[in-house]
Amino acid sequence: MAIQPLELLRQTFPGIQSAEQLTQLAQLARQATYPPNTVLCHEGAYEKVLYLICEGEVIITKRFDTLEEDHLVLRRAASGDYFGEMAIISDAPRSATVTTTTETTVLEIDQDVFRTILEKNADLAMQMVRQTFERLRQNDRMTLEELRKAFETLEKLDRAKLDFIEVTAHELRTPLTIMRGYASMILTDPIVRDNPVLREMIEGISNGSQRLHEIVNNMLDVQRIDLEQISAAAVPVSLPLVLRGVEMQFKQAIQQRRLNLQMDLQQNEGDGSNYIEADPGLLSKAFYHMLMNAIKYTPDGGTIRVALSYEDHPVMERVAHVQIADSGIGIDPEYHSLIFEKFYRLGDVQLHSSGKTAFKAGGPGLGLAIARGAVLAHGGEIWVESAGHDEAAFRGSVFHVLLPIQAALREKMALLRVRYGE
Ligand SMILES: Nc1ncnc2c1ncn2[C@@H]1O[C@H](COP(=O)(O)OP(=O)(O)OP(=O)(O)O)[C@@H](O)[C@H]1O
Ligand SMILES: [Mg+2]
Repeated sequence: MAIQPLELLRQTFPGIQSAEQLTQLAQLARQATYPPNTVLCHEGAYEKVLYLICEGEVIITKRFDTLEEDHLVLRRAASGDYFGEMAIISDAPRSATVTTTTETTVLEIDQDVFRTILEKNADLAMQMVRQTFERLRQNDRMTLEELRKAFETLEKLDRAKLDFIEVTAHELRTPLTIMRGYASMILTDPIVRDNPVLREMIEGISNGSQRLHEIVNNMLDVQRIDLEQISAAAVPVSLPLVLRGVEMQFKQAIQQRRLNLQMDLQQNEGDGSNYIEADPGLLSKAFYHMLMNAIKYTPDGGTIRVALSYEDHPVMERVAHVQIADSGIGIDPEYHSLIFEKFYRLGDVQLHSSGKTAFKAGGPGLGLAIARGAVLAHGGEIWVESAGHDEAAFRGSVFHVLLPIQAALREKMALLRVRYGE
């Protein structure tokens, strides 16, 4: 048996002390009964009714994702609970959806009626404010908990992905090494050497397995970086030497693709030397992947500029600044941080061309993740600037790397990164 409206209003809103006002409210409130699964409040809609449950139960849900129909259950409400007050007090759209779960009888109070009562009763207003804050706090707690769970799941999935990479890479390495070994042995055989067709075929096998070997090594590099198993050495490194070394590896590709590569390597005016405390192997890897990308994503005949300069930096004091600029296809701003994630690649997966330095040759999406890992291990920074993807105007991209000259400053950058995020 439902409680009488007047009694229910008195119990729910003790802030209304005047008996006359309570009676007036009870008279103006409409009583209605709804079957199960009726939506009383629609998230996002402007609706001007406050509901007080006499009997039955409702569920209050919020959309989790604007596109999908995923809902987060905020709470359930039963006899004596009210809902829909936030939207009518602040003239805002409904912040959640309310659906009956059983047959439910409610008192419906219109916005203007409720506001008139509210204006006359400071105690009621305070009660509503307190209740609203409490509900918001509860929602916050619940959302944070959901976020924490989602984060945990993502971490587990990422971990599973890393395990998969490791197993696959190790499994592939052994047969690949055998293939490469036999291919190079066959190539030394005089019968093959003197037969151009045969030689070309075996060279094809050798090049193919060499490329696969590189991919497998990249997979292992990225896995080590993700598990934070790399630490950068701190030995005197000449950056011009490292950059020239990387350039050498692409001499042939640059010629074939008729690219104009400019190297603008300046001296450090601070102390006149070009040495920084760093890990030459890791830096070569980083610049290798960045230059490889500049080549891959620039059409034939384009320009690539590798520049090295030295600057003052607020945290790292003095830094080496390497820029790799290209006149290529460019990258839309929304992807500027995503491309540094492992396996993140843009463009059509189907459109992989053969040859790793061909225009838009594609790849598994590991190069920039490795480059970022190597730069971060130095306490440095890496980012990209590009006006956007455009395969008509070719507005290009500029990749930047900052490296502290002194390894002692790495710690300082790492601490800042932990404190403020990347
Ligand atoms: N210089 C560039 N110009 C335009 N797009 C780029 C450039 N460098 C990277 N990208 C985009 O960023 C994505 C990620 O780059 P990344 O080097 O990590 O992977 P990849 O080149 O696709 O494969 P991998 O390096 O493993 O062979 C690329 O797929 C490409 O879409
Ligand atoms: Mg790449």
